[in-house]
Amino acid sequence: MIVTVTLNPAVDKTCVVDRVITGDVNRIREAESVAGGKGVNVAKVLRQFHLQVACLGFLGGYSGRMIEDTMTKLGAECHFTRTKGDTRTNTNLLGTDGYVTELLEPGPEISEKELANFRKEFTYACEQCELMVFSGSIPKGVPKDIYAQLIAECRQLGIKTLLDTSGEPLKEAILAKPTIIKPNKKELEYLVGKKLPSREAIIEEAKRLVKEGIDKVVVSLGEEGLLYVDESRVLYEPAKKVKAVNTVGCGDSVVASFCMSEISGEEPELAMKKAVALSAANATTKGSAEIPLSTYLDLL
Ligand SMILES: Nc1ncnc2c1ncn2[C@@H]1O[C@H](COP(=O)(O)OP(=O)(O)OP(=O)(O)O)[C@@H](O)[C@H]1O
Ligand SMILES: [Mg+2]
Repeated sequence: MIVTVTLNPAVDKTCVVDRVITGDVNRIREAESVAGGKGVNVAKVLRQFHLQVACLGFLGGYSGRMIEDTMTKLGAECHFTRTKGDTRTNTNLLGTDGYVTELLEPGPEISEKELANFRKEFTYACEQCELMVFSGSIPKGVPKDIYAQLIAECRQLGIKTLLDTSGEPLKEAILAKPTIIKPNKKELEYLVGKKLPSREAIIEEAKRLVKEGIDKVVVSLGEEGLLYVDESRVLYEPAKKVKAVNTVGCGDSVVASFCMSEISGEEPELAMKKAVALSAANATTKGSAEIPLSTYLDLL
């Protein structure tokens, strides 16, 4: 079983408006809400490929229930921890004038009791877990080194870990040596504390991370493609040329693809080809983490 951990999930709401005017009434033409959050997106993709997956993290209120309902319907096991505060809604205002306005909520603060409940749920999930995936930001009330603590717990039990986060949580978590990390270029630059102007510079830093004990470093470069570094290999795969409609969830698609490859013991060369095809397929539709299977297979 693959387990995804999403500590700060969100309902992603997309609204179509003509033009956003501050200080005035704005009428919304169309609105749609979907379950979101990086780990939730990873689980969504995994279910489309019929993998056994369980979801962990914090959920509260109606928005939380909506995420749980969605994931249950998709056939994921849900072991979310309930919070007193409501799960956030992130709103994307798509202006017909071409401007996109994002309204991002901070999410609820997690209490000590809720954190303790989550830790119990996590330890329980470890019993059946082969690969633990940690995605996204950390909510208020949760210690900045939570990922490091959880990765260490997995390591003791021989569970592989895949980490996709940014900023300080990534810096902290790296110390616990996850099996796989998937930073994008900006996240890697923040991690190493300098600009990485060339592919060679990125490879050099990825190699350093491998030397420090991370098995596989996958760096996503947006439209430029994907880099992979492990102890014995450096691989590059250009992104697939597609007409991109919505690239949200492309990073999560790479993570999901690497999860599937890791579970089936695939060679990294094939894992890379699959990951660029899957993430490109994700970009071709309006939805995020909704993979058009035939497009994926064609690209592959
Ligand atoms: N426009 C695009 N066309 C084709 N493939 C794309 C495009 N954008 C992204 N991809 C693929 O998706 C992968 C991941 O994208 P990216 O590097 O933007 O991830 P990210 O920054 O982690 O994204 P996010 O966290 O917002 O999901 C890229 O390495 C590339 O293979
Ligand atoms: Mg990302």
